[in-house]
Amino acid sequence: MLKGKLVDPVIKALVNNNAIDRFEDNMMPFKRLMAYYKCAIMEVETKFKVLNQEFSLEYDRNPIETIKTRLKSTDSIVKKLAKRDLPLTVESIEKNLNDIAGVRVICSFPEDIYVLADCLLQQDDIKLIQVKDYIKNPKPNGYRSLHLIVEIPIFLKDTKKNMRVEVQLRTIAMDFWASLDHKLSYKKDIPEEEEELLRQELLECAQISADLDKRMEKIKNRIVNNKI
Ligand code: GTP
Ligand code: MG
Repeated sequence: MLKGKLVDPVIKALVNNNAIDRFEDNMMPFKRLMAYYKCAIMEVETKFKVLNQEFSLEYDRNPIETIKTRLKSTDSIVKKLAKRDLPLTVESIEKNLNDIAGVRVICSFPEDIYVLADCLLQQDDIKLIQVKDYIKNPKPNGYRSLHLIVEIPIFLKDTKKNMRVEVQLRTIAMDFWASLDHKLSYKKDIPEEEEELLRQELLECAQISADLDKRMEKIKNRIVNNKI
């Protein structure tokens, strides 16, 4: 079985032998599964677009700033399965990985996140699998976002299939913070001491940005409530 330290050389060997390419090319079931995840992404994205449209009619503003979607790359799927000692099969992907299909919804205000999440979860074709509320309970590094794993049906030629999708809801400020944090995590050549200082500073920025989110929301609500 693959162990942590062996994972990277193993992946390298798989890449060098074109094993991943062959895995993709020779496996119709794999391609089919990926196509199903793409359909699930489209379904979830449409649901958020519809909600945004309805809100803009009712409240004269769009709660959603942007929606970003992504399908996990084959490379990342293989790495994740290998890291967790799981079989490299289509069944295993479907059973063990919840983040093949990803939808990120970026809102202006924190309240919008919960309103949108509730609206989505109320829909009778959506099944909630898991919630991680990193807004009420931010990660120790300062990361904030609301994560949902949901199951959504896609309707095929003669069957219906339930697919899992990871939905991340965050504000513009949370997204801005997360992209900088992501940059730091991927930078390998920063001296340890400097990295520690940067992490400390990022944590402070997370607090400042959370305060800013709250203040901006209060201002917005005062403006809205003063409307005649
Ligand atoms: P994986 O990280 O996908 O293995 O899943 P997990 O079980 O740790 O799930 P979690 O819900 O905590 O995180 C899933 C995703 O959220 C990640 O892939 C990132 O996109 C995002 N995320 C979680 N934590 C952080 C963080 O500290 N910084 C940043 N920038 N993104 C994060
Ligand atoms: Mg992930």
